[in-house]
Amino acid sequence: MIKVENLTKRYGSVTAVDGIAFEVGKGEIMGFLGPNGAGKSTTMRMLACYLPPTSGRAEVAGCDVFSDSLRAREHIGYMPENVPLPQDMRVSEYLRFRAALKGVPGRRIKERLSDVYDLCGLGEVERKMIGALSKGYRQRVGLADAMIHEPELLILDEPTIGLDPNQIRQVRELIKNLRSHHTILLSTHILSEVEMTCSRVIIINKGRIEALDTPENLRARLSAGGEATLEIRVSDPAATAAKLKAVSGVKNCSHQRLGEWTRFTMKIEGDPRESLHALAVAEKWPVRELARKGATLEQVFVEVTHAEEG
Ligand SMILES: Nc1ncnc2c1ncn2[C@@H]1O[C@H](COP(=O)(O)OP(=O)(O)OP(=O)(O)O)[C@@H](O)[C@H]1O
Ligand SMILES: [Mg+2]
Repeated sequence: MIKVENLTKRYGSVTAVDGIAFEVGKGEIMGFLGPNGAGKSTTMRMLACYLPPTSGRAEVAGCDVFSDSLRAREHIGYMPENVPLPQDMRVSEYLRFRAALKGVPGRRIKERLSDVYDLCGLGEVERKMIGALSKGYRQRVGLADAMIHEPELLILDEPTIGLDPNQIRQVRELIKNLRSHHTILLSTHILSEVEMTCSRVIIINKGRIEALDTPENLRARLSAGGEATLEIRVSDPAATAAKLKAVSGVKNCSHQRLGEWTRFTMKIEGDPRESLHALAVAEKWPVRELARKGATLEQVFVEVTHAEEG
């Protein structure tokens, strides 16, 4: 659905996007992550035909977004970072106007409006002035605008920014529901959102793609591995920690007394739980917990985007 080849955008001497390439398949939800200034919005603007690239090319639904941008736009619904909305129009007026502008046939407009009101939860406010809406409802109008012409591809630039936790959940559910009929490219700083909705993730930093994979694979690939915890009853925690550290796959070990129990927290590589269990049995340590926590997407993000500083 999206095909990007060697795409570059320079603003004067600043290279905002530096020769990136990726593909997004039909029906995928691709997360687009990166620190502030990484080049996410710039890339999305180019894909949405709002900004010409300095070099390289991009295709949406088989149409070149630069040489064939009118046809490409029919397939694209774009929700920009700061949705510019007229304050003195009613929600219904504005969306009707946008539908007409995007070429929705007059006889279909009513049906499309009713569909996007349902999808975006706008029914209650359709008669309200946009200027009188809360931030969350304005975001929903932006989303409704992006979807009004039934595009196959949605490009959503931080659709949940500024929303309260309930609204974030609602928008997330909405995006999940769109999955069956749409391909989505979604930028966000909320990593849990990506874990819950995206099939694959791009991590971009300083205009370059640093990682592109499923959330599971990204976490699995993280060299820092994860963490294991072991809660046992021992009389000499320091001596025990030394024994734990000697187990293959355990990188370091700290401990905390919890009454007569001690909790050992270990940085691990791979999965040394079986060896830890065997050691506890051999040493006759009473065990009340043995667990492993994999790396989180947040750790992956930090490692990938701070790699050169660490
Ligand atoms: N119109 C512009 N003129 C000059 N430089 C720009 C312009 N727009 C963006 N930039 C620069 O391009 C780089 C990438 O910006 P971009 O907005 O794409 O980042 P982003 O990943 O969307 O960041 P954020 O998470 O803050 O939204 C930044 O260094 C930014 O300062
Ligand atoms: Mg941005």
